[in-house]
Amino acid sequence: MAESTGRDPELRANDADLTPEQKQARVTQVFQKICEDYDHMNDVISFGRHRAWKRALVRRVVQARPRAVLDVASGTGDIALALARALPETRIVACDLSENMLEVAQRRFEAASASNIEISCQDALHMRFSDESFDVVTTSFGLRNLPDFQRGVEQMVRVLRPGGLFICLESSYPTNVLVRPFFHLYFSHLMPWIGRTFVAAPDEYQWLADSTEVFLSKDELARLMERAGLGAVHYRSFMLGGAALHTGIKGVPHRAAAVVPPARFERATPALGELCSIP
Ligand SMILES: C[S@@+](CC[C@H](N)C(=O)[O-])C[C@H]1O[C@@H](n2cnc3c(N)ncnc32)[C@H](O)[C@@H]1O
Repeated sequence: MAESTGRDPELRANDADLTPEQKQARVTQVFQKICEDYDHMNDVISFGRHRAWKRALVRRVVQARPRAVLDVASGTGDIALALARALPETRIVACDLSENMLEVAQRRFEAASASNIEISCQDALHMRFSDESFDVVTTSFGLRNLPDFQRGVEQMVRVLRPGGLFICLESSYPTNVLVRPFFHLYFSHLMPWIGRTFVAAPDEYQWLADSTEVFLSKDELARLMERAGLGAVHYRSFMLGGAALHTGIKGVPHRAAAVVPPARFERATPALGELCSIP
């Protein structure tokens, strides 16, 4: 049992067993603990690929030429910092609930002399930003950690101006039946082993694996975004479907022709399509 393994019994439960309050408490506990190792471990668990996926997100934001961008669940600030460098005249706000993650972000922003970033410690589900105050809202590997995905997206859409861009990078479960067993093996066994071996935090990395396994499929997330008031929703898969970049425009009717998506974005990716979408 939990006591005999020396692991934290609180962290072993799957998301599905938890109340929203319990889930939020666990998530905060995880990120407060792993903040110093987070960036290094991101490289390890994604084989360095998260950098390319984040670059794709940043390129899409730059195309929108925003004056104000909110990065929700900003963590140690990868996205905020890349945006601040790419858009030096743009106001970038990095928002997260974990003070420890934001402390790491603050150090990075100072080291990079990024003066156009503001840090805000806030709960994504109860943000204090005014309605329609940002041109772009981004979130990267944050949504699946929220206790209520729908409310999270609704809040991000609330602070987005009409016509503004919402963009979400998130890990995902592949739909291809040939690929799924390998991902199950990776998430269920390899990722906790990596956590145990490299940072002595197997339960925290088990949590990261569990939260991906129970997260929405790519199509479910696309439909949720539409329900939250986004149109022209598209997504692009990475690494055999192990991650995806979803985009939507506030206030554009669903499937509107007004917004032409980048050629490599997909809608309702067929399972084999994921195999052909490696960046
Ligand atoms: C996996 S990290 C992502 C960090 C960063 N965006 C990246 O791409 O590397 C998830 C982040 O979500 C934050 N988070 C979890 N629940 C939150 C909430 N309710 N409001 C705001 N941030 C939250 C955590 O503190 C953590 O920093």
